[in-house]
Amino acid sequence: MANPTAVRSIAAERFREPKKIESVLDLVGDTPLLEIRRIAGGISPGVKIFAKLEGMNPGGSVKDRPALKMIQDGIKSGKLAPGKTIIDSTSGNTGIALSMIGRVLGYPVELVMPSNVSAERKRIIHAYGAKVTYSDPLEGSDGALRLCRKVLEENPAKYFKPDQYFNPMNSQAHYEATGPEIYRQTDGRITHFIAGIGTGGTIMGTGRYLKERNPKIRVIAVEPDDALHGLEGLKHMATSIVPGIYHEEELDEKFPASTEDAYAMVYRLSQEEGILVGQSSGAAMHAALQIGRKLRSGVIVTVFPDFGDKYLTTNLWVGWRDRMSVGNLKFSI
Ligand SMILES: Cc1ncc(COP(=O)(O)O)c(C=O)c1O
Repeated sequence: MANPTAVRSIAAERFREPKKIESVLDLVGDTPLLEIRRIAGGISPGVKIFAKLEGMNPGGSVKDRPALKMIQDGIKSGKLAPGKTIIDSTSGNTGIALSMIGRVLGYPVELVMPSNVSAERKRIIHAYGAKVTYSDPLEGSDGALRLCRKVLEENPAKYFKPDQYFNPMNSQAHYEATGPEIYRQTDGRITHFIAGIGTGGTIMGTGRYLKERNPKIRVIAVEPDDALHGLEGLKHMATSIVPGIYHEEELDEKFPASTEDAYAMVYRLSQEEGILVGQSSGAAMHAALQIGRKLRSGVIVTVFPDFGDKYLTTNLWVGWRDRMSVGNLKFSI
């Protein structure tokens, strides 16, 4: 076991001397990189696995980065001006990010999302005061996308749509910040970058930056292994509307993750590493471990898009309790 007095986390360093900030938006990005030691314990000692903790962003997820970048770009181009309302379709985290940013910068926010997103996400968005229209849960994020287009077409002058699936600023946010942060945090030693695909912004932007620094770095995308899955935030590309910012030819590999494996990894992460994350982080960590097992040496970096407190009422912790038994978890909730 690690000597508790010797453990100095990057997060502790980050907050050692709290900086004075002008708004919560100053807290977006610059997230810590956590070494996953226990779960990675069985693999070659030459292989290290790190996870970028995107839950540390002020809106609680990786989506704060692209949301802020898309809004800043909208203001710069004049497409977003006082009097306009921000609208987008989102399965949750982008909605939370936009709701937060809209409040700080003074723009109303309207969101379209499938009605089955977790109760916690709905409540968080409600707390920021955004207006929500619900789409058919059976149509998933694509249904929300279509309904959002319809609302927009009915009143185009009213709205600014960041359009995260097609806006190049989404991946640009990761190209400009997530990629450089990871490169610096690993002293340029990263050999594999692994991330889930939702819009594709994280994998595309970060991957592009890392490849520019070192073309040998392998960029691997994680996606649900089936169209019907329980991995909130991730997209099964073969059966989805393919985002305009997603360019599969830039990837070295795709890793299919099952819902079962991802959930099991979420349980392991909370119990063995003391970090409670969401489903997509479980999928990313599962892929990182499987890929790490095949290597003799390497520095693998993956992304944990958010923490797990938003999912405590979802299938992750409730519906599956009878079917899965992991570690010493009693499923008595
Ligand atoms: C929980 C979660 N994981 C993963 C992702 C995927 O990130 P990206 O849209 O950058 O591909 C998202 C967002 O879409 C998300 O909300």
